[in-house]
Amino acid sequence: MRTSSVYSLLGLLGLAESADKRDRDNRIPGYVLEYAPLVHLHSSEKFWPCDIAEHLEHVTPELNYTPMVPASTNYNLTNLDELNEFSNGRFVYLTSDDNVEARPDWLGGEKNIPEDPEELYERITSQGRPQRPLGTNDASQIHGGRSDAPAVLVVIDKGHGVVDAFWFFFYSYNLGNLVFNIRFGNHVGDWEHTLVRFIDGKPEYVFVSEHFFGEAYTYSAIEKVGKRPVVYSAIGTHAMYATPGTHPYVLPLGLLHDETDRGPLWDPALNSLTYRYNHTSDVLVASNLTPKAPTEWFFFNGHWGDKVYPIDDSRQYEFVGEYHYVSGPLGPRFKHLGRTKVCQGRTSDPCAIHEWLPPEHIRIVDGVGEGEDWKEDERDPPMAVK
Ligand SMILES: *[C@@H]1O[C@H](CO)[C@@H](O)[C@H](O)[C@H]1NC(C)=O
Ligand SMILES: *[C@@H]1O[C@H](CO)[C@@H](O)[C@H](O)[C@H]1NC(C)=O
Repeated sequence: MRTSSVYSLLGLLGLAESADKRDRDNRIPGYVLEYAPLVHLHSSEKFWPCDIAEHLEHVTPELNYTPMVPASTNYNLTNLDELNEFSNGRFVYLTSDDNVEARPDWLGGEKNIPEDPEELYERITSQGRPQRPLGTNDASQIHGGRSDAPAVLVVIDKGHGVVDAFWFFFYSYNLGNLVFNIRFGNHVGDWEHTLVRFIDGKPEYVFVSEHFFGEAYTYSAIEKVGKRPVVYSAIGTHAMYATPGTHPYVLPLGLLHDETDRGPLWDPALNSLTYRYNHTSDVLVASNLTPKAPTEWFFFNGHWGDKVYPIDDSRQYEFVGEYHYVSGPLGPRFKHLGRTKVCQGRTSDPCAIHEWLPPEHIRIVDGVGEGEDWKEDERDPPMAVK
């Protein structure tokens, strides 16, 4: 008895130590990049990928529609978590310094349109020294372009051979869709993601953040360039789909459409902030690929855009519970990173994994219009008539 309890104590200590070591393991397995998704942005997009560091230069944190600091104070990626000191950060909204209807340049991110891969190849080869995006300088291997806006890669080892690679894409602005030619659901700050799930080092599933909790596909079903999954980002809303085309969905308000096409092809592996994350211990470390990537911003508990405009704001209108302007979303840490099923929904929600790409279908949704996010407790603006 005594011997075995000594052993189990040693065992516990050993486990604690190895868990700690594992938390500090910052390597990204090679297969994560080998099977990184390529993203087709829409050819007529007006709101391109944006750099989160730059976004922070144009926003001021607000609590209850009141700036918390002078507009000249900028938080950045290494201190954004300090905003959690105020009501735990949950009700903090990073609010645009500019009137979004004036469409300032930073909101559109036009300079971040991915570079044409052929131009990239020419630039690389003309530099005379071997630069190897993704381990190659063979033009036929360069599929997508580099964006100056870094994507965010969060890799989680879930045990039992399961490794989740979450690729997050940030846009400073989400232009909502039209119903009867009236636009609903605009917001500042937009986080979308694609998850590639590996089992024993092999890609098995790809999840895309379509409107309303997304859809999951087997790796074999998904379109590919070489080995790499190809996904599509809808014009304006950036909701992610596995196919180009029209993706209708029905809200109580009426019929809306997301639209994807084979616009500029973005290779996020060419410019990303890359991390390992343990969702149990909530420890995030910059990976060996980008060891200087700041981690503090990830822990900010608040919203990446303006709070839903009050109903007496001239920019705001409401119809059947949907608003012209809704609140900006929470960050990647709140996108159910610990999920066991590959889908984003609650564990009790169904998670159908498609083994073929979808035919056209209309999704009927009784929920709210806010993209892929959960129902927000603060979704309605003050003074909204209930
Ligand atoms: C994550 O953290 C938990 C709690 O500290 C630990 O038990 C687990 O082994 C860690 N997982 C990995 C993959 O490091
Ligand atoms: C963020 O701001 C703080 C305080 O001004 C500064 O010390 C820090 O170096 C800044 N970090 C970055 C990434 O610019």
